[in-house]
Amino acid sequence: MLPAMGGAPLETTTVDLSVDLAGLRLANPVMTASGTSGFGPEHAEYMDLRKLGAFVTKAVSPEARKGNPPERIVETRGGMLNAIGLANVGLERFVAEKIPFLQSAGIPVIVNVVGHSVEDYQTVCRRLDSIDCVAGLELNVSCPNVADGLEFGTDPQRLSKFVTAIRRDVHRAKLIVKLSPNVTDITETARAAIDGGADALSVINTLYGMAINVDTWKPILANRTGGLSGPAIKPVALYMVHRVYTKVAADLGVPIIGMGGITDWRDAVEFLLAGATAVAVGTALFVDPQAPIHICEGIAAYLNRRGLQSVRELIGKLK
Ligand SMILES: Cc1cc2nc3c(=O)[nH]c(=O)nc-3n(C[C@H](O)[C@H](O)[C@H](O)COP(=O)(O)O)c2cc1C
Repeated sequence: MLPAMGGAPLETTTVDLSVDLAGLRLANPVMTASGTSGFGPEHAEYMDLRKLGAFVTKAVSPEARKGNPPERIVETRGGMLNAIGLANVGLERFVAEKIPFLQSAGIPVIVNVVGHSVEDYQTVCRRLDSIDCVAGLELNVSCPNVADGLEFGTDPQRLSKFVTAIRRDVHRAKLIVKLSPNVTDITETARAAIDGGADALSVINTLYGMAINVDTWKPILANRTGGLSGPAIKPVALYMVHRVYTKVAADLGVPIIGMGGITDWRDAVEFLLAGATAVAVGTALFVDPQAPIHICEGIAAYLNRRGLQSVRELIGKLK
């Protein structure tokens, strides 16, 4: 059960923070970003999860995986590099051990899905689509396919075929595709994901990066390279949300979950104005595990100050 932590819901006076994500109603637009708050219990020690718009899990693959050896994380200026790999408990242990806890939270749960083949993704999605508290399945397409070593998410044609194949197995949960920023033109992969049947897009995953130890002349991460996240990537992420929204998603009515360096309510408001319907907070949780609560309170106060009734009045309103 969730520890009692002063109780939900958020006290945000008279404003309406609820948003509609492809037919999924969220009490507020702020969720966790995958991989930064485990499977729930880890984060619940520090924050009442019922105050989130949705909880997004660490990636789940069919089999349990240990992930990469250490070092797996390096702090950088204004952010961090991670190369956790696919460390997770695997599908069956996730269902048996993690789902009951997440169910008790009573909030929409979005499960991040990962694999090395289309079949891996299908196995996880098929199984989880039948579980009521799983409101969404977020495909992490930044992983290489074992068959050809290429990532699923970087080539538009491959991505479209890939999403089409998963779409056939997902009937109830919302199908969310998480886009990689490591492409020449993110609007092409956004369009491909929507063509394949995505209900929503998460924008963005981490940017490739590395760090070198000048004493040993070796990369600090055992994996050599990692994914850059945190405030350092916020302008890039915001730009990509803006591009995807204005060039593709707005016309097609596909909502965006914006993420990348969001730390406070101002960051969140910027992403909403750029076109995000919801936002996810990742790296900032390592500094302030209650950041989602503070962001919601900040957005509510901002709406009050501006005489606005609903957070939905901000979405895509960039002039
Ligand atoms: C430690 C760590 C682990 C992550 N694990 C995952 C993951 O399992 N699946 C995924 O799609 N993204 C993963 N991400 C990416 C985040 O969900 C998010 O897209 C990215 O970090 C940008 O947001 P942020 O700057 O707020 O952290 C991870 C990020 C970090 C820092």
